[in-house]
Amino acid sequence: MTVDLVLKNARVFTPNGIFNAGLAIEGDRIVRVAKETNLPPASETVNLNGDLLLPGLVDIHVHLRGQGLSYKEDFYTGTAAAAAGGVTTVVDMPNNIPVTMSVETVKERIKSAGDKIVVNVAFYSAFPEKHEEAKRIVVEGGAIAFKFFMSRKVGGIDPKDNSAILEALREAAGLDVPVAIHAEDIRLIEERKKKVELLEKEGIEAYLEVHSPSVEKAAIERAAGLAEETGAKIHICHLSSSKGLGAVLAAKKKGLQVSCEVTPHHLLLTVEDLKSKGATALVNPPLRPKRDVDSLWKALRDGSIDVLASDHAPHRLEEKFPPIWEAKTGISGLETMLPLLLTQVDRGLLTLETLIRMASERPAEILGLEGRGRIVEGGYADLVVVDPSERFRIDPSTFHSKAKHSPFEGWTVKGRPVKTFVNGRLVMDEGEIVAKPGDGRVIRRLREA
Ligand code: DOR
Ligand code: ZN
Repeated sequence: MTVDLVLKNARVFTPNGIFNAGLAIEGDRIVRVAKETNLPPASETVNLNGDLLLPGLVDIHVHLRGQGLSYKEDFYTGTAAAAAGGVTTVVDMPNNIPVTMSVETVKERIKSAGDKIVVNVAFYSAFPEKHEEAKRIVVEGGAIAFKFFMSRKVGGIDPKDNSAILEALREAAGLDVPVAIHAEDIRLIEERKKKVELLEKEGIEAYLEVHSPSVEKAAIERAAGLAEETGAKIHICHLSSSKGLGAVLAAKKKGLQVSCEVTPHHLLLTVEDLKSKGATALVNPPLRPKRDVDSLWKALRDGSIDVLASDHAPHRLEEKFPPIWEAKTGISGLETMLPLLLTQVDRGLLTLETLIRMASERPAEILGLEGRGRIVEGGYADLVVVDPSERFRIDPSTFHSKAKHSPFEGWTVKGRPVKTFVNGRLVMDEGEIVAKPGDGRVIRRLREA
């Protein structure tokens, strides 16, 4: 049998270890992982010259924007950024214009994405106003999971309304759909904001007091309590502090179905970077002192943190300047995540196994993205080829994202994604996007388009 594509002469990262081998690909699937002599003939063969072949990253925290926010990012530029960064599947957040929160809005969003994307995209929905609609959002609309912001109202449910949250979580539990949670408690945020205003505190110090680790911790404890009551699976987004981590660990210890994620920026930057860089480092939850960062690293190494995700949240740089309460928070992270993490592997701070487990395998598992996140026979050919020895400087002006700014500007990293394959097709080659808009695929909960 002749297959469509053979990738030969690679160091292939498989669940059983790294092998000098190659892959045979037929259509969108990997059909064989083997030494070159055991690979079938192919219509096309690509020699990877001994480079590292990894599962493409599965980034479960991405704000692709588009629609009413296309000036910040659109489905093409966002997924091109993903492809350039070795990310083959992104899961899109619902806080857009319009907010994704109904069957119609999910369908509209999927329709708008369809002819623009160059990687796989799945969609979160916010909860609808009427909890009964949640089922249709998943079954008819195709949303993969729900996202709930505890810090402000996004979607149909007020984060102060415990009984409405309980009903929504019950629906999600019944559907066996996870709920990703932005864990900052709205009541505490409001309380603290009044206090700093009264004391006429301003700027970054005031902002940090309002968005403090205690606010994160309180939200996680509350979310865990609601999950316990309903049996819902929850996923805590962008964990930032030691206090927050403590609350996650306590919930895990109780046996609750809770997973959590951490971002490269919360691992590699501290509050000092926010103070020195300002706008480009402004993100929510904010960057923390070194002791918090150290505790995240420790938890990451001992396996207590499940997922690495970018929280790619593109804004125009002009929108990120003071007054701080109006400044937009978020970092353009898709193009820097993998190089930054590979650099930590090179420095001995992280193993490649942990990186791939947390950035490809576990995220796919948590969201039920079957056949993704691992290089195995029968799995999808979602792959990134990395030259682990190439050093380069992060230059945001070269980003495919519309948000051409980064707190990592000027950092030297080691490990460059050189080719990205999605569903067996080459989409990025040496930094250039070679896929056509629309070559990417929408992944729905129950079936694929
Ligand atoms: O920094 C952030 N940016 N945090 C959020 O919760 C939202 C996100 C965005 O959409 O810009
Ligand atoms: Zn986010």
